[in-house]
Amino acid sequence: MPGRQVRVSVVIPTYNERESLPLFVTALRNVLGSEADWELIVVDDDSPDETWKVAEELAAEDRRIRIFRRLDCRGLSSAVVAGLSVAGGERVVVMDADLQHDITQVPELVAALDDAPLAVGTRYAAGGGVGHWGRGRVVLSRAATVACNLVLGLSVSDSMSGFFAVRRAEFNRISSRLNPRGYKILMELMAVMRPARVEEVPYVFAPRQCGESKLSARVAWEFGFALIELLTRSVVSPRFLKFALVGLSGVGVYALAQWMLLKGFGGIETSTLTAGAVGVSALSNYVWNNAWTFRDRRHVSLPAIVRGVLLFGLVAGTGAIISRAVAAYFLGPADAIGFAILAPTAGFAIATLWNYFLNHDLTWRGHALPA
Ligand code: GDD
Ligand code: MN
Repeated sequence: MPGRQVRVSVVIPTYNERESLPLFVTALRNVLGSEADWELIVVDDDSPDETWKVAEELAAEDRRIRIFRRLDCRGLSSAVVAGLSVAGGERVVVMDADLQHDITQVPELVAALDDAPLAVGTRYAAGGGVGHWGRGRVVLSRAATVACNLVLGLSVSDSMSGFFAVRRAEFNRISSRLNPRGYKILMELMAVMRPARVEEVPYVFAPRQCGESKLSARVAWEFGFALIELLTRSVVSPRFLKFALVGLSGVGVYALAQWMLLKGFGGIETSTLTAGAVGVSALSNYVWNNAWTFRDRRHVSLPAIVRGVLLFGLVAGTGAIISRAVAAYFLGPADAIGFAILAPTAGFAIATLWNYFLNHDLTWRGHALPA
């Protein structure tokens, strides 16, 4: 923007928000004032309801408004990255266009960048809230936050937030390493940026006034994949791979134990036999994990080992329940592929992640031992 200094850029991704957009612009003008030191960047993915056209009209009246219409791609995270990439302000705020994020908190978020490279609007700190959300969505959002913090080793109360501010220089430093997909742009940003400090600004998530949410089951799936991808890209510790390998070895141990028990005690009941084989393979997994996966934190004293075995068993038990639930979900539309491949694979994958995180944070929590 020649001839003027932009201090703050506000980036909003839009998809079918033609009704919300004018309301958003009015509200933003009220909050940021009549000066020319801010800009609004609307990133629209060629919305079928022609939101881009509404944005073009608004931009024609107010040169602080810019519209970026993307014809070749779709997606919330990539739209946000596209907007951040063309932003002119030193500080950039990212938020939804549908007025669910509290616009009056924008100055607060911008000011918070005095102290940190990243500031996050949070629904889960004192003064914040989710308003009208149903229980299911609250639980999902919380669970996603916990999983994300575990993977990234962060403690941000709302890592699923779509409302945040970042210093542009900091974004530029890392933008080429981003791999934006799905909804979780903030998670991706934090994973790559590794900010030393994150400021939090509480806000209450408002009900949608017009249009509808695009957060669907597919988005939830994408989140799962993004998490796994993050895990396997940078954060995945060799530790996780070791854990997965030990888990796989447990399958072999289980088969072997069952065969041997069958040979040795021919007459016993199948359920007893299975329980025995499960016990043997779980114990073998524990021993390998203690000696190899978590070697740096291994249990040495007898009480520590007894406690370790008990916790490990407990985690494996809950993991098995979850794995069954996931498998059952895939069996819903029961077809051959779902039955033979999808259900057990998904069950195994989820259980492995679950077991890993819990064992990592519970069973083998604690101080590092000399190697
Ligand atoms: N350009 C573009 N492309 N914009 C999109 C797309 C897309 O594919 N999908 C959604 N948007 C825009 C919407 O128009 C809206 O402005 C914003 O992104 C958020 O979309 P919603 O569909 O309203 O999301 P939500 O309210 O259900 O989800 C909110 O909560 C999540 C956490 O629980 C958002 O704040 C998310 O960002 C947040 O992760
Ligand atoms: Mn919304």
